[in-house]
Amino acid sequence: MALTWQTGYGHTTADDDVSKRLLESAATLSYDPSTEIDWDAPLPDDHYGLNPEWSTLYGTRLWDEMTERQRVTLTRHEVCSIMNTGIWFEMILQQMVLRDQYLKNPATAEFQFALTEIADECRHSIMFARACAKMGVPAYRPNKVIAQAGRAFKALAKGELAYGGILVAEEVLDVMQRDWMRGEKVLEIVRGTSRIHVVEESRHMKFARQEIRERMRPASPARRRASATGIAVGAYVIVTSMVHPGVYKAAGLDVQRALAEVRASEHRKAMMRTSSRHLMAFLAETGLLTSRSAAVYRRVHML
Ligand SMILES: [Fe+2]
Ligand SMILES: [Fe+2]
Repeated sequence: MALTWQTGYGHTTADDDVSKRLLESAATLSYDPSTEIDWDAPLPDDHYGLNPEWSTLYGTRLWDEMTERQRVTLTRHEVCSIMNTGIWFEMILQQMVLRDQYLKNPATAEFQFALTEIADECRHSIMFARACAKMGVPAYRPNKVIAQAGRAFKALAKGELAYGGILVAEEVLDVMQRDWMRGEKVLEIVRGTSRIHVVEESRHMKFARQEIRERMRPASPARRRASATGIAVGAYVIVTSMVHPGVYKAAGLDVQRALAEVRASEHRKAMMRTSSRHLMAFLAETGLLTSRSAAVYRRVHML
């Protein structure tokens, strides 16, 4: 009886059905951003890069003191910084997924969906790159230490740790982009790219959740706790590197004051908690929300 494939971690035919459905969905609903987005349309001067309530400074005294021009500039730099973080993370993800599928059975839906996901991410990264170029915002990159940590993570992380890191980045971005795609006075280029990303990433998140559930089934308590901490550290890095401090300078603001107001912002903390609610519920369900990892999530207001 062919209940399990020869994959080494107990991937069953029932598990493969999840990937099969995701493949069917990808065949009917996928986008080509190069034709889907009107790349030549002018950018109206008064349109924001993201909904003001998603700006890191929204609700602070500094925000009230800013001119409308500064708010437009700030939100455009913020969205490009987040898109750059997206590209950085999608590169890490593509390498981890490719490594994970190395020499696995190509006949499985899991293998085929994993490669479909890599192809999606490849299009997403080009799409984000073009959107940033169109907005005229230079590349924001993580600092050297974080960049090297990312290099190590993409080379070494596997199993639930790899898919946990993937899920964190996808979930947090998803909640924001659901608002951006409907945002009034948000640039059409951001609305359009967000719409494409939300649709295609919903499949990626289902895939990541499925992969995590499978890998957790045979996991010992010690491994579960270690992975829980590893995913939380990954989340800490992702969340703290999402918006580069250079965005405040670009908007003509005092960077130190801006950073201090962001850190103290209750609105910002509430937005972080809202965007992490679904993720925290899933981590709790799979035993990946331990007291140690919860402490890390609290530090970045994801819990
Ligand atoms: Fe993506
Ligand atoms: Fe993805």
